[in-house]
Amino acid sequence: MSSQKLTAAVSNYGGLGSFGAHGLKPEAIREVIREIKGITSKPFAMNLWVSMEDEGTLTSTEEAFHRSLSPLTKHIESVGGDLPSYRPYEPIRFEDQVQVLLDEGIPAFSFIYGIPSKQILNAFHHKGISLIGTATTVDEAIALERAGVDVIAASGFEAGGHRGSFLQSSEDSLTGTMALVPQVVDAVRLPVVAAGGIGDARGIVAAFALGAEGVQMGTAFLACEESGASSLHRKAILSGQAKQTALTRGFTGRLARGVKNRLLDNFNEKDIEILPYPLQRALVRHISIPAEKAGQIELLPLWAGQSASLSRHTDVRTLLDTLVKETSGIGEAVQSWSARRQREGVLE
Ligand SMILES: Cc1cc2nc3c(=O)[nH]c(=O)nc-3n(C[C@H](O)[C@H](O)[C@H](O)COP(=O)(O)O)c2cc1C
Repeated sequence: MSSQKLTAAVSNYGGLGSFGAHGLKPEAIREVIREIKGITSKPFAMNLWVSMEDEGTLTSTEEAFHRSLSPLTKHIESVGGDLPSYRPYEPIRFEDQVQVLLDEGIPAFSFIYGIPSKQILNAFHHKGISLIGTATTVDEAIALERAGVDVIAASGFEAGGHRGSFLQSSEDSLTGTMALVPQVVDAVRLPVVAAGGIGDARGIVAAFALGAEGVQMGTAFLACEESGASSLHRKAILSGQAKQTALTRGFTGRLARGVKNRLLDNFNEKDIEILPYPLQRALVRHISIPAEKAGQIELLPLWAGQSASLSRHTDVRTLLDTLVKETSGIGEAVQSWSARRQREGVLE
């Protein structure tokens, strides 16, 4: 859902726009970086996934492909799509993606699903590129701090899309933002950015109260016209449908959150076979592309977090203006409340 336009719009406003490049080949990443630099002179981040494939990806068979295709066949046919045939997996190397970030020079590099090697982290630091590691548990935050990152994004299970657990399985790392952030803040000295379920100014103020020094928001930007989300996806986010989200491995092979619809429910049925990441993601494109063309919202992977139905704004400037204004408003209200209580002698 990343787009160069969205990344630049957030950075131009004064935030740190971020582009998720994990699925792109190195040369495509180079293009993206150059395009972003053409539309913003402000700092931005490029994001990669340290672990590029699951165990079993390289040995997955044609038979497994057909078993996972089978429950999708009726859906693909219903929206006039072509049934795919098996194609062997072509890996993209993380090290090659990283080399492009280093060659092009970027302000910040953020990552999930692991910690890059010491050699890679040193190469970024040597170039003055800030490193943002993502933790979904306290132990992951401690490991990231020990490895030498500059900032930790603590991602709670309310978040949309993938969170990037790496020390334990995603299913064993389902801590919510409210519980995760203060524990991470207590466990590390680095600045912590809270992510997951922050949909408006109330969430931002709460994150600061938990000890975070910044917030990372994804879902709230999906409804913005600058995002790479399709018009159907944006419509779903702004509709009542987004009230219910759920976790599934069905969209990509890794646990991710999206709006509950027929596709997501089908994937979560018993006995449905899901291919390992990223094979499942490649398979799901054969339903998402024709479903999009056919306007079939029930058969689209509708990435979104639990705060999706708080979304109201459809462009980055209005969204960020509102967040800044309302966050200051709540801050002032809290200050005047505590000043009044102090005058009344209720607070010390
Ligand atoms: C559609 C979508 C795609 C995402 N892709 C990535 C990604 O590639 N890398 C990453 O670090 N985080 C990714 N995220 C997570 C965001 O960076 C952020 O942590 C999260 O959206 C915050 O929670 P929220 O969705 O409740 O705002 C994605 C989120 C969404 C909604």
